[in-house]
Amino acid sequence: MTTAYLNGRFLPLEEARISPMDRGFLFGDGIYEVIPSYDRNMVGFERHMARLASGLAAIAINNPFSVEQWQSMLRELLHANPWSDAAVYLQVTRGTAPVRNHRYPEHCEPTVFAYPFAISPRNPGDATTVTRYSAVTGTDQRWQRCHIKSVALLGNVLHMMEGADRGADEILLFNDADELTEAAACNVFVVINGQVLTPPLDQQKLPGITRNMLIDILRTHGDIPFIERVVTREEVCSADEIWLTSSTKEVVPVTQLDGRMVGDGEPGPFWQKAQRLFDRYRFSV
Ligand code: PDD
Repeated sequence: MTTAYLNGRFLPLEEARISPMDRGFLFGDGIYEVIPSYDRNMVGFERHMARLASGLAAIAINNPFSVEQWQSMLRELLHANPWSDAAVYLQVTRGTAPVRNHRYPEHCEPTVFAYPFAISPRNPGDATTVTRYSAVTGTDQRWQRCHIKSVALLGNVLHMMEGADRGADEILLFNDADELTEAAACNVFVVINGQVLTPPLDQQKLPGITRNMLIDILRTHGDIPFIERVVTREEVCSADEIWLTSSTKEVVPVTQLDGRMVGDGEPGPFWQKAQRLFDRYRFSV
């Protein structure tokens, strides 16, 4: 049984109820986070809290909790559940309004929901056990505020299904100028000529916490050359390695793109190094 948190109460997930008039349900009017934890210690907690705060501010929802209140609620939630390696999903919506109207009322009590789910144990950079991902390429058709971690994910859902329909685990997205943005549910890194690259942040992509942690780790530890710059579709399609990053996956290799092998079709040496560094420093950056 999963224990969830909803508006001040811990309760069995299947008993959690919200009003159909909740603006999260009607409009996707809310912000979410997914925070991984190992041995019930949350990874990148402060960074997730900072992104949550800026997402809520961007859509003018008051953050219902202080960072300390979030921390104690989420810790309690993790301890109320059976998994020691789990990610916690949390969302804050604008709350329930008496009528459905695009314009929201001045006073709305935010709805706060959270529940954890099991994730795979940490991968220490072991190429034999890591899950290999396949991806296809597609044109990014989402909105122009992808930097906001909105619960309105229909664009991402449709892209993910486009990838699935083409037999892939993920889809790498490119804007109209054929520049890499991100994937349907991950940020993307590539390795070209011994250099690790990822595109710079803007409104076309989510400022991924795993992405930012990995960048900080690459910049301060190890000897892997890294730069943030625009990456073209052509470069991605001929890259030596492609990695996906997200809170639930950490850093994982894409070994097949559009039905062709990436590099030699195996998780590459740069991925292995990067994930080893991530495994070592995930709790200290
Ligand atoms: N997805 N880009 C998109 C569109 C995402 O949905 C995600 C994460 C990321 C990676 O961000 P982070 O490293 O902060 O998890 C990038 C989450 C895990 C999800 O929706 O389940």
